[in-house]
Amino acid sequence: MRDVAVIGIGCTKFGEHWNRSFRDLFVEAGALALEDAKMSGEKIDAMYVGNMSAGRFVEQEHIGALIADYAGMASRHIPSTRVEAACASGGLAFRQAVIAVASGMEDIVVAAGVEKMTDVEPSASTDALTGAADREWEGFVGATFPGLYAMIAKDYMHKYGMTREQLAHVAVKNHYNGARNPIAQFPSEITLDTVLKSTMVAEPLRLFDCSPITDGAAAVIVAPLERAKEFTDTPIKVLATAQASDSIALHDRRDISTLDASVAAGQRAFRMARLTQKDINMVEVHDCFSIAEICAIEDLGFCKKGTAGKFTADGETALGGKIPVNTSGGLKSCGHPVGATGIKQVCEIVTQLRGDAGRRQIENAKIGMTHNVGGTGATVAVHILGRV
Ligand code: COA
Repeated sequence: MRDVAVIGIGCTKFGEHWNRSFRDLFVEAGALALEDAKMSGEKIDAMYVGNMSAGRFVEQEHIGALIADYAGMASRHIPSTRVEAACASGGLAFRQAVIAVASGMEDIVVAAGVEKMTDVEPSASTDALTGAADREWEGFVGATFPGLYAMIAKDYMHKYGMTREQLAHVAVKNHYNGARNPIAQFPSEITLDTVLKSTMVAEPLRLFDCSPITDGAAAVIVAPLERAKEFTDTPIKVLATAQASDSIALHDRRDISTLDASVAAGQRAFRMARLTQKDINMVEVHDCFSIAEICAIEDLGFCKKGTAGKFTADGETALGGKIPVNTSGGLKSCGHPVGATGIKQVCEIVTQLRGDAGRRQIENAKIGMTHNVGGTGATVAVHILGRV
């Protein structure tokens, strides 16, 4: 297997893009990544595009070919593949690109993610997202994603005694970070009161416990590490790629407030990189709801089960804390265009490792991690990246 490096990154602003199409968003992110890697599209050998539900959101399928066409690659006939794993589509697209380069099958590969979610009514976006759960056993009986994560939150609070205020600290911290990220959808600082007095969505989760509905795209370019210096002075090495799956319905889980697929993917990634939690300088986790970040930092081993509420309220996951979590603002403040999120997480870690993160920069960052979840944890992708 060859060593693989990220040599270019690009991200659109996340938010509501009424005046831009699905394909415009992808083309913008791809062009930014090419510009960042100082290369033309002619060097690209293959593309993997994470997308959850363009069929439901913009009535477009056949995304791999569409994206290659609008990126100006139709006449070169390069392989371009859509990757779908609900909200983990981007993380899996990145993993496929890394595997393609590591295996020697391809040299210069784009891993991208794109979603345009705001063109449909809220009821339609909620229903499309429910397709990531078990439609027969969960969706058809009325469960939505806020509802499913609310069950996880209830179970967790009952078992471990986490308070509502401790949970709210996740959102306050992520908005603080997002206010320092130019691409964030909601770049505003908030207080505990903002969270605790916001509209109830699914008890105990309120509006500010939820990630929003978002349009956006992100792209990264990967290459063999030995060729990376042709394109950039700051290649970022992929130290580990891991993926795991679990039962799709919550009722089949051993324990609904532990995502066993996160545990498995995290352990595999640490093993592959020959690193431990202490080596990680910052981690982007999948905070689709505030409770998801609480579970994630425990499942990845950054704190003990049942302690993440206090750990967060004590500031250990803040920018200056023991393990800064979601320096980008996470899904909560930066936004969650579902197919693009896993790639945006990689962009954030690369930005931190290059020292380009401005007012949210982690000093002396050398190694970072991403954690991207599909559904309520039926798919998880974890990556570890490091400075060369
Ligand atoms: N956080 C903070 N503010 C939010 C927000 C969020 N997550 N979502 C919307 N808002 C704001 C809007 O900007 C708007 O503000 P304004 O009135 O000042 O313009 C207001 O709240 C109402 O927005 P609207 O779009 O009507 O919200 P909604 O009630 O239709 O949707 C949620 C709110 C939480 C239900 C929706 O964002 C949602 O379903 N989120 C979860 C997405 C999801 O499940 N993703 C997959 C996870 S696995």
